[in-house]
Amino acid sequence: MRDAQARTIFLKDYTAPAFLIEKTELHFDLEETQARVSSRLLIGRNPELAGNDQDTLQLDGQDMVLESLRIDGTELTSDDYEIADESLTIRALSSFASQSLDEGFVLECVTLIKPQENTSLEGLYKSRTMFCTQCEAEGFRKITYYLDRPDVMSVFTTTIVADKQRYPVLLSNGNDIARGDLDNDRHWVSWEDPFRKPCYLFALVAGDLRHIEDTFTTCTQRDISLRIFVEEKDLDKCDHAMASLKHAMRWDEEVYGREYDLDIFMIVAVDDFNMGAMENKGLNIFNTSCVLANPATTTDLAFQRVESVVAHEYFHNWSGNRVTCRDWFQLSLKEGFTVFRDAEFSADMGSRSVKRVENVSFLRTAQFAEDAGPMAHPVRPDSYMEISNFYTLTIYEKGAEVVRMIRELLGPENFRAGSDLYFERHDGQAVTTEDFVCAMEDASGMNLTQFRRWYTQAGTPQLKISDNYDASAQTYELLVRQSCPPTPDQSHKEPLHIPLRMGLLDADGNELPLVLDGDQGALATAPTERVLEVTREVQSFVFKGIRSKPVPSLLRGFSAPVKLYFDCSRDDLLFIMTRDSDGFNRWSAAQDLAVAVIQEMLTQQQAGEQPQIDVRLINAVGDVLRSAVDDARGAGELDQAMLAQLLSLPSEAYLGELSDEIDVDGIHVVREMLADTLAATHTETFAELYALCQSDAPYSPDALSIARRALKNCCLAYLVRTQEPGWLEVCAGQFTDAGNMTDVDAALRLLINSRAPEAEPLRAQALADFYQRWQHESLVVNQWFSVQAIASRPGTLQQVKALMTHEAFDIRNPNKVRALISAFCNMNAVNFHDLSGEGYTFLADQVIILNRLNPQIAARLLTPLTRWKRYNPARQHLMKAQLERVQADPELSKDVYEVVSKSLKSS
Ligand code: TRP
Ligand code: ZN
Repeated sequence: MRDAQARTIFLKDYTAPAFLIEKTELHFDLEETQARVSSRLLIGRNPELAGNDQDTLQLDGQDMVLESLRIDGTELTSDDYEIADESLTIRALSSFASQSLDEGFVLECVTLIKPQENTSLEGLYKSRTMFCTQCEAEGFRKITYYLDRPDVMSVFTTTIVADKQRYPVLLSNGNDIARGDLDNDRHWVSWEDPFRKPCYLFALVAGDLRHIEDTFTTCTQRDISLRIFVEEKDLDKCDHAMASLKHAMRWDEEVYGREYDLDIFMIVAVDDFNMGAMENKGLNIFNTSCVLANPATTTDLAFQRVESVVAHEYFHNWSGNRVTCRDWFQLSLKEGFTVFRDAEFSADMGSRSVKRVENVSFLRTAQFAEDAGPMAHPVRPDSYMEISNFYTLTIYEKGAEVVRMIRELLGPENFRAGSDLYFERHDGQAVTTEDFVCAMEDASGMNLTQFRRWYTQAGTPQLKISDNYDASAQTYELLVRQSCPPTPDQSHKEPLHIPLRMGLLDADGNELPLVLDGDQGALATAPTERVLEVTREVQSFVFKGIRSKPVPSLLRGFSAPVKLYFDCSRDDLLFIMTRDSDGFNRWSAAQDLAVAVIQEMLTQQQAGEQPQIDVRLINAVGDVLRSAVDDARGAGELDQAMLAQLLSLPSEAYLGELSDEIDVDGIHVVREMLADTLAATHTETFAELYALCQSDAPYSPDALSIARRALKNCCLAYLVRTQEPGWLEVCAGQFTDAGNMTDVDAALRLLINSRAPEAEPLRAQALADFYQRWQHESLVVNQWFSVQAIASRPGTLQQVKALMTHEAFDIRNPNKVRALISAFCNMNAVNFHDLSGEGYTFLADQVIILNRLNPQIAARLLTPLTRWKRYNPARQHLMKAQLERVQADPELSKDVYEVVSKSLKSS
């Protein structure tokens, strides 16, 4: 490994910083081959640290050349400090300072860096024609020597100097306070951010940018200037992000009482970015894919993603910036809370139950897989080698579920009180998840002692529930057993505090009043929905006054991120699917039914038998379809987005995640068989519904129109499955004539995946036309890469390899890597897991290349190989061999080293 040995960092070793940085003044001289960074830091001993007599200062810094170093005006010589790969150490500090270290001293440092050669997209780098920064988590140390840790908070002033023609726009955090021209066509701008912040929230942008502008008037009547900066060609794709931003600002005032604090809020779109976006104070930097949108180039899904990411980054201004993390083990403090906030925002902007369905599908597929794999870790990890590897679904999505459970337990009013207390108590501080939980406890009076285990225990808990109806006593018992499988470094698990939201339905579908044995209240006034608090390993809940055996509706709204096992008959699932009052559980029952049918088919197929399809599922789909048709003809009251979800079969990935050993091909075959049968059985109804969902209205990304398009394209997908040439033509017609990218993209995907012989020429033509039409829109070209990468047809890997040599592909651009390579490895199971092992070799090849260029992306790309234990011995062997080949690279980055070594550990 390049970095000698990867060191593990432990939470238990945390100590407060010995020095603090009061003020940070930065001066950037941006040139075409290098950048000169001059910093002037006002540093002092941390007064909060008892008996602090520290006389050695160690600053973080890497990949830079030190030009000069001064303390209180005196130049230090190379004998006065030590430079290592990742640090600069000054011993006998007090001998250089003009007063006591408690009073403080000024450290001035000049370094040279090369943004043009920085392909890691961390620190200061160049994306196309602009300079930009990405400092979270530990990128600031690639810009200048500093105390690069979030509990060191400082007031920043930044001056940027650059060529005026190439970089007319110079941005940093806060307010722009001065500007001027210099010789040689250069100019400068100074920015001051009045709020103390950790350096990971620092940002700088320099480029030839245009912007759109708007204003937002806050709840206290302050006018905020809002600006979105993009390259000129993208000016026509900013309106949706601006509208989303204003909605988010209003929502945070109304729902959380949070007002924006600076006078200006800026967003910049950059094309080369490792993640979705970054919440730098007052200057959010976005991946173009998460900010640009217009109807011609952008699908509904991408419109919704823009809305939620804009909101997410904006919400960080309070949950992340005003109150930040003490150390990176607390990452979920800001990410889990902020994901929860943005999910609720999206739910309020669109369909609440569909948002929950989408969220839960994602969690149960991807996060559950992470929890069952070699990188499993708690929401608050105990250790890491490379923090970039811990921006995970567990930190983000499970972290959001933990916050949601707190709200389930406290109720909405107490939760809001807890949130208010948290922000008030910790404003301006760097704190821990423990501080968050304490605020919730203090505001509500609730005891969350046992609940805290959600932060420290990894793995997905299992709830096994059985029931027992006693007709003579008129009682109904739910017997709940909880357990949690072992995860790396955690063999034993303690019971968790789990909110189980539930209701009981009688035979007519009425919700029964819920009175537990031992309750005081009368039946007449009892609630029909409750949140049971499961705290013990085995726990019994007995309901009184139940006159006949009810059907339980369990884990409503997915009130806890657990795997629920309840032996529910298929008839009862059908009953819940049509009668439950909880929209999420109606969908969940439909999924469970489809899963049961597919699993049964899979067992038959594995035994060499012809899979049989339970006719109840086929009929249930027919019923949903008919109600959708009635609705579309008449009142239009049903949630069409929910109907589209109800008509979609569980994904191959989810079916895989439910298996002990994933039968990639078997799952694909039986799922296709089922979908084809549904299509053949209900062709006419799908056709009718498809026609009813057509609209001449101009495109609008509002929730109703999105729902209608989703339902329409869901119908088209089934219709194309019939392989009738007529439907292929309709599909090809939609591809050519549709006026919006959602319908074009849906049709293209169907043409590409159709197995009808007639599809072949249509497919080739469509792909050629599409590229011809959109070759100058980078994000659309990425979509073009993706649709080809996920085709389940044989020969797709060859196609992917060919596309890697296409003029539009660039392995240094993460969006391209995700569109082509990640899409193939994560969303094309049958081809990636081809028994030749070529998919695995391909992935390892790309990881080895990217390891040198962009370690963060390389490590992320490895994920599908790390799941090797879930497959049959032949595949395990092939996958492991490729992990070992990656491991043998002598120049592994910390990022890849951590993932590969943990994946191969104890094997
Ligand atoms: N904090 C960012 C968010 O909103 C995450 C992020 C953006 C990030 N860029 C990054 C994390 C680069 C690590 C590395 O979720
Ligand atoms: Zn975030």
